[in-house]
Amino acid sequence: MPKLTSSWICQECGYNSAAYIGKCPSCGSWATMIEEIIAKKNAKTSSSTISENSFSSLSSLDLSEVKRTKSYDPELDSILGGGFVLGSFILLAGEPGIGKSTILLQIADDLSNKLKVAYVTAEESTYQVKLRATRLNINDNKKNLLLLAENNLETILNLVEKEKPDFLILDSIQAIYDPSLESSNGSVSQVKECANKILRVCKDKHITTIIVGHVNKEGLIAGPKVLEHIVDTVLYFEGEKFHNFRIIRATKNRFGCTDETAFFEMKDNGLVAIANPSTLFMSQNTEPASGSTYTTIVDGSKTIIAEVQALVGAMGYATCRRVSNGLDVNRVLQIIAILERRSGYNFSKHDIFVNLVGGLTSSEPALDLSIAMSIVSCMNNLIPQKKSVYIGEIGLTGEIRQVTKIENRIKECAKLGFEKIVVPWETDISKIKNPNLEMVRIKKVFEVLSRE
Ligand SMILES: Nc1ncnc2c1ncn2[C@@H]1O[C@H](COP(=O)(O)OP(=O)(O)OP(=O)(O)O)[C@@H](O)[C@H]1O
Ligand SMILES: [Mg+2]
Repeated sequence: MPKLTSSWICQECGYNSAAYIGKCPSCGSWATMIEEIIAKKNAKTSSSTISENSFSSLSSLDLSEVKRTKSYDPELDSILGGGFVLGSFILLAGEPGIGKSTILLQIADDLSNKLKVAYVTAEESTYQVKLRATRLNINDNKKNLLLLAENNLETILNLVEKEKPDFLILDSIQAIYDPSLESSNGSVSQVKECANKILRVCKDKHITTIIVGHVNKEGLIAGPKVLEHIVDTVLYFEGEKFHNFRIIRATKNRFGCTDETAFFEMKDNGLVAIANPSTLFMSQNTEPASGSTYTTIVDGSKTIIAEVQALVGAMGYATCRRVSNGLDVNRVLQIIAILERRSGYNFSKHDIFVNLVGGLTSSEPALDLSIAMSIVSCMNNLIPQKKSVYIGEIGLTGEIRQVTKIENRIKECAKLGFEKIVVPWETDISKIKNPNLEMVRIKKVFEVLSRE
């Protein structure tokens, strides 16, 4: 009979304490310690520790055994490093309602054409899954797509061992419980233990597995940090509540780089990849207007053209307002201060609103010049004569600093037909031979302001 002891465990970070503490000493969260019953294993050495395994040399390992399975979407494959690696363990995390179950059902549907797929839902009934499948136009006559609505880990693992699927989807890890543990569903010990047991079965049987993970109010994966350590790949599903686009990025990948992002659009028939996200966030309005300029955002290996809009108006209240959507408000305040000190503008009697169009968010310094230009353009009612892009970080002395991946940014702007690109002075423009493209290199912010 295993010994029962209790421990106070922080539900945010998994910190363990013998007694209750109001503030977690590890992550600093308040009132997150919960008492959990822990069953201690007998200290006897398990016979399984004496295994038949042995050391091997690199030359004895055949890479052709590392098989990858392509998904329904090349964008998704690119973030996985070229498809799902056989036997890999993937964690898909995202906010409620972002579309995790939708994309997993699409993946399950596609893979079931060539593999045996088990889809375990611990949060919904099989009828709810069927409803979603009907919305996604999934053929309900698929023998290789097995559904199970269950949250008892033992039952799930028994059925997995019996059915031996090639691919397993578990939605979600927080809703599954291990009956051998006393602690409640979703607690740190439950999540940790369930993930470890699933991992063991899936690695043993070479089952590629995706588990869904909830995120907490800070946007981090809920539960113990160890969850992110034990999985091979962590995919974050992000998006804006009021916009249809979604982004998946890998924050950890043992089988590929973490530089890739995939853009999707949530449609009636599910998530559809956007192959060219560059144009997604550009205004559909073709008429040039004051207070609107273009810039570039680099996200992984992709370059996106973004539009920054500013509205400068007479002060409406006793103090002037500074409102920023999608951009760091402190960055905007800093740019306003630089414009006032280094270029002689006075915004002390003006409200300023700045918006990154399309629900995008970015804190990239490369957007500084575009923010400054939008504000000045609205203040002076300047309508840009040419389709221009502004790229550059503004330093506190008003100098324009170089930004990362400038060649990719220029290439993308040229591809989309922009006529003028304003870049930092250090940029090498000798290789740009496009006669329709005017390249302007600047050292100080006032240079561009006085030119326009
Ligand atoms: N008919 C529809 N057309 C377009 N989008 C839809 C439609 N029905 C649902 N959606 C979208 O799908 C989302 C729900 O997707 P899904 O259930 O896959 O999310 P989830 O991340 O699994 O949520 P949870 O965390 O609650 O499990 C909704 O928030 C909505 O954006
Ligand atoms: Mg779901």
